[in-house]
Amino acid sequence: MANHFALIGYPIKHSLSPWIHEQFLKKTNLEGTYTIHEIPLTDSFEDHVKKLKETRINGFNVTVPYKQEIIPFLDEIDGMASKMGAVNTVANKDGKWIGYNTDGIGYLRSLESKFPALFLNMQKRVLVIGAGGAARGIFCALDSAGFKYIDITNRTARSAQEIAELRSSDTNTAILTLKEAEDNIKDYDVIIQTTSVGMKPTVDASIINLDHVRQDSIVSDIIYQPIKTKLLQQAETSGASVHFGHTMLIYQAQYAFEIWTNKKSPIDDMDLKLQLILE
Ligand code: ATR
Repeated sequence: MANHFALIGYPIKHSLSPWIHEQFLKKTNLEGTYTIHEIPLTDSFEDHVKKLKETRINGFNVTVPYKQEIIPFLDEIDGMASKMGAVNTVANKDGKWIGYNTDGIGYLRSLESKFPALFLNMQKRVLVIGAGGAARGIFCALDSAGFKYIDITNRTARSAQEIAELRSSDTNTAILTLKEAEDNIKDYDVIIQTTSVGMKPTVDASIINLDHVRQDSIVSDIIYQPIKTKLLQQAETSGASVHFGHTMLIYQAQYAFEIWTNKKSPIDDMDLKLQLILE
């Protein structure tokens, strides 16, 4: 039986999700489609969702600006998505819509695929830069994976504080100014950049200076346009290891596909192919 998947959001005409999911369908030998349903901000979101329900779609992804708006239309919500207050994946299980969030866990899978040893030591010190929706997902995933030291730095302390409140009782989180983070950058084994600073067209911008990062640290940037941000260039120059943002796209989609189909698609060389598409 063919599977029908989709993406809702706005604007999504240039989304990479159809390409990624078509690869997964091929790799798992499943028949199916992944289509785009752009919902303009001037339209009634409820009308679109009702129509989608009539199609008996097997599952769909939700992207900006509807990750919160979709919640009232769900029959159930998974614990992680509920904690994050945002849903990016909906599965249709026997007519019931169940909401999940695969962003944070997908990010962690992408990090683990490149740096598996990191996940053997939960005492490693992690710094999350930024306190928006992406930071929230990554923070919750790091916390539930068992990392014990996850600090947050952000221009606005209040939103960082709100994220810190989501931590488990045995997780330690300090809130730092961007200047403090820069001055203490040597303390961190992993530095994860989640803001839009450095994204096209602001390619010459870097949210903090990484001249003093340790050579054995990992620097990760979730921005994927450009693939190699100024921050990652600085990290490389300093001798640190780097982790590219486009890999997160693949792994969060892989986890969504797994929720829909119970099949974990191999990634193979999708990382390199996606890099070529983006460059
Ligand atoms: P997303 O949901 O994609 O993570 P968001 O919710 O808009 O995006 O969050 C954007 C993040 O980028 C925030 O951490 C924001 O900092 P503030 O909380 O202080 O607004 C950060 N950010 C965006 N532009 C920035 C800039 N020019 N300098 C510093 N931080 C910036």
